[in-house]
Amino acid sequence: MGEAASPLQARTVIPLADLRYAAQRPPVPRDAPPPNGLLSDRLGRPLRDLRISVTDRCNFRCSYCMPKEVFDRHYAFLPQASLLSFEEITRTAAVFAAHGTTKLRLTGGEPLLRRHLHVLIEQLSALRGHEGQPLDITLTTNGSLLARQAGALRAAGLKRVTVSLDALDDNVFQRMNDVGFPVADVLEGIDAAVHAGLSPVKVNMVVKRGTNDHEIVPLARHVRERWGAAVVLRFIEYMDVGASNGWRMDEVLPSADVRARLAAAFALEPLPPSAAGETAERWRYADGRGEVGFISSVTQAFCGDCNRARLSTEGKLFLCLFASEGHDLRALLRGGASDAEIAAAIGLIWQQRDDRYSELRGSALAEPGSGQRRIEMHYIGG
Ligand code: GTP
Ligand code: 5AD
Ligand code: SF4
Ligand code: SF4
Repeated sequence: MGEAASPLQARTVIPLADLRYAAQRPPVPRDAPPPNGLLSDRLGRPLRDLRISVTDRCNFRCSYCMPKEVFDRHYAFLPQASLLSFEEITRTAAVFAAHGTTKLRLTGGEPLLRRHLHVLIEQLSALRGHEGQPLDITLTTNGSLLARQAGALRAAGLKRVTVSLDALDDNVFQRMNDVGFPVADVLEGIDAAVHAGLSPVKVNMVVKRGTNDHEIVPLARHVRERWGAAVVLRFIEYMDVGASNGWRMDEVLPSADVRARLAAAFALEPLPPSAAGETAERWRYADGRGEVGFISSVTQAFCGDCNRARLSTEGKLFLCLFASEGHDLRALLRGGASDAEIAAAIGLIWQQRDDRYSELRGSALAEPGSGQRRIEMHYIGG
């Protein structure tokens, strides 16, 4: 690591050799976590939510995530042999569950592009949390293949689903997905998810000022009228994830402004948080026709109780959406490590975690070290 590396980055990666060592013999026995057990990071945050990316590919090219100019036909996606197998994913998830993880989210890329995904969901459904409870298993999708797959996903054990949808107007939507995909098919996918009982269905809209902010009220009205309380619409501030999307602060519409525009059209009332570490601030329509959420990572960072870890398609563990490097769990999985060794390694990694990028955004501490580049959203999921 070069001299310009920040203290934040300097602590980000534990070399593989140390992981093996840690797995076999914790270097500080009194502080080391037991192979299975609840964990707390350096800022006192538990590990509750594991997001698992099952593919780095996507059939959309949203400009804020996989701009066409970068992700063209020459782009080298991961080869099949690099991907964690379903068995490797399930084994890893079981270790996380034993460490207190209660929620699994499958992401991509577009997770429904991964062949036989329902088989993975069946395997994950058989896992239990550290108190023997079933896990909350959910998935984030662009909705393009949902109409076809919703029933099978539910039957396999998926509990709920989140669909990305940035506009109701077909022209705006097609421009944003940049592959000419029609909005009607995504709306049908949401219908299918509601019918299959994948509830509550959440719909995520990334708001870009000047691109789709005029769609806020029309989309909210459509969701209220078509699905009522069965679908929760959430507005996401456009974030500076990755290094490809050319993010600019003037394209961020703060959640406070989004809420003001909604409040001018519908009476809203605040709701209390439903769980610790939640990303969205919740509000409901005063007439009882459902709720909306605001995810304000740029204007109101929520790192303080961030309990989320991310497993990349090739088995690297990332501790923050804005990290540059991950810890190579695949090397342990394929290198003969026992479950207890993997559990100890994950424990050590989590105990060293101090990431809080969104809180530091704009300060020198938030910048990657020399030669480092932030991971892209399509590689690590939302
Ligand atoms: P549920 O409410 O349990 O369904 O999950 P969630 O709130 O984690 O929602 P979801 O996974 O749909 O995340 C919604 C969006 O919030 C993502 O697409 C990201 O844009 C953003 N987001 C989620 N987690 C984080 C995080 O840890 N940090 C930041 N900065 N943004 C996040
Ligand atoms: N800012 C905010 N959200 C993003 N997503 C992808 N890129 C960004 C970004 N730059 C969200 C998408 C989707 C999920 C996969 O991640 O809206 O809901
Ligand atoms: Fe694909 Fe989702 Fe990224 Fe759009 S935001 S390119 S749908 S992974
Ligand atoms: Fe968690 Fe990093 Fe997001 Fe903060 S920026 S909430 S630490 S993932």
